[in-house]
Amino acid sequence: MRRRTFLQSLLAVFGTVSAASFAYPLLRFLAPPADADRDKKFTLAKKDIPIGTSRVVLVNDKPVIVIYEKGKGYIALSSVCTHLGCLVGYEAAKNILVCPCHGGTYDLEGNVLSGPPPRPLSKVPLKVENEQLVIG
Ligand code: FES
Repeated sequence: MRRRTFLQSLLAVFGTVSAASFAYPLLRFLAPPADADRDKKFTLAKKDIPIGTSRVVLVNDKPVIVIYEKGKGYIALSSVCTHLGCLVGYEAAKNILVCPCHGGTYDLEGNVLSGPPPRPLSKVPLKVENEQLVIG
């Protein structure tokens, strides 16, 4: 093999590897994620949430707070505060959700009661099927 041919082949291989190393991450970024894990529902036994308590579960990798309130039944809301993303907690004595970071408060419908949150918490679908709660 002549030196010139060898160098041209080496450059072609190097160029191909370089192009692939740029193209692959770009294609992975542009391609939509696999749908296999999307829209998965989370199932929780009713007995795991006594009246007046709450539980945070992950539904499609997003934290959801599930509350069992005496008058309203089961409620599922995103537990991510709409201000800066801290996780809200259920304060059973006042029947509100409180953000520990800047004191934002929400009612059990997710509406902002006070503090800096700009938007209500988003509701998460919840169905009661026999002794199970299906969330998501
Ligand atoms: S992050 Fe919740 S009030 Fe600021």
